Amino acid sequence: MDSARKGPAITARELTKRYGDVEAVRGVSFEVARGEIVGFLGPNGAGKTTTVRMLTCFLPPTSGTAWIHDLDVRERPRDVKRILGVCPQEDNLDPDFHVLKNLLVYGRYFGLPRRVVRDRALELLAFVALSDKAHAPIMALSGGMKRRLILARALLNEPRVLILDEPTTGLDPQARHAIWDRVRGLRAHGTTVLLTTHYMEEASQLCDRVVIMDGGTILLEGTPQELVEREVGRTVVEAWNYGEDFLNFLRALPGRLEELGGRLYFYPQEGDHIERTFDQRFPQQDRLIRRATLEDVFLKLTGRALRD
Ligand SMILES: Nc1ncnc2c1ncn2[C@@H]1O[C@H](COP(=O)(O)OP(=O)(O)OP(=O)(O)O)[C@@H](O)[C@H]1O
Ligand SMILES: [Mg+2]
Repeated sequence: MDSARKGPAITARELTKRYGDVEAVRGVSFEVARGEIVGFLGPNGAGKTTTVRMLTCFLPPTSGTAWIHDLDVRERPRDVKRILGVCPQEDNLDPDFHVLKNLLVYGRYFGLPRRVVRDRALELLAFVALSDKAHAPIMALSGGMKRRLILARALLNEPRVLILDEPTTGLDPQARHAIWDRVRGLRAHGTTVLLTTHYMEEASQLCDRVVIMDGGTILLEGTPQELVEREVGRTVVEAWNYGEDFLNFLRALPGRLEELGGRLYFYPQEGDHIERTFDQRFPQQDRLIRRATLEDVFLKLTGRALRD
């Protein structure tokens, strides 16, 4: 399949959503190429879910639009839904049906033969390690199990585009890694994935590209590695129990310094020799020198203060 000649899997143009006075999404435009895994990051209330809901035809945009492959979400919701797999942020499993039945009923919407739906449902239950719960009521599942079932459901129609809103929130490390594995496997077969996450490690490990949102707009996008190198550099120094001497020493070095709750964060412009310098000048100083991560980028862009 020559996907290079085809258009993007997802195209958003000036997507806007207003709830009364709140402008939750303010003219957001982006593209996701076919076969790409893109992560949407942003603090609580940034507008990620609102964007996702417009892309998946659950919410009409106030203005602007989006296309999934070349289908306009406003005009072709039924066709869009056919090629989409969706994992919403909230639990919308049907409490009246047991686990397997939730998948079987959902599968019917796609007009697939019963046999096919059943085979896929059983395979997906095995994948999310819920085979022994197939006949359990939804109520009897733990939070993480519900999440896994919702993910299984999103894969039932073998979607060309998967849109996952915090797919791994509340999952244990085993389940999270299994899901990363599956997502990578799907990408290898040409599936496009857009996911939101608050786990920066997940975004770094899984995503070809990340988009950072805040206040309903896109602040930045790029590959995790290029964002880290460009925005914060390679190295971070964290220090605690420090005195004026150490503080003044850092202030004189080129780089960015943040102080928060008795802890220092220093992002040196040139971090290569900093460890040796500290060993010589401040050997007793409590400190940690580590590689910069996407979390540092996120905190730099969106601040360290809590959001409502
Ligand atoms: N149905 C609604 N009615 C009114 N305001 C809403 C509604 N849904 C969302 N909002 C507001 O829109 C903004 C964006 O919310 P959204 O759920 O898109 O954020 P998010 O980035 O998904 O956050 P989180 O990380 O907490 O899931 C917030 O200010 C929120 O209060
Ligand atoms: Mg959300």
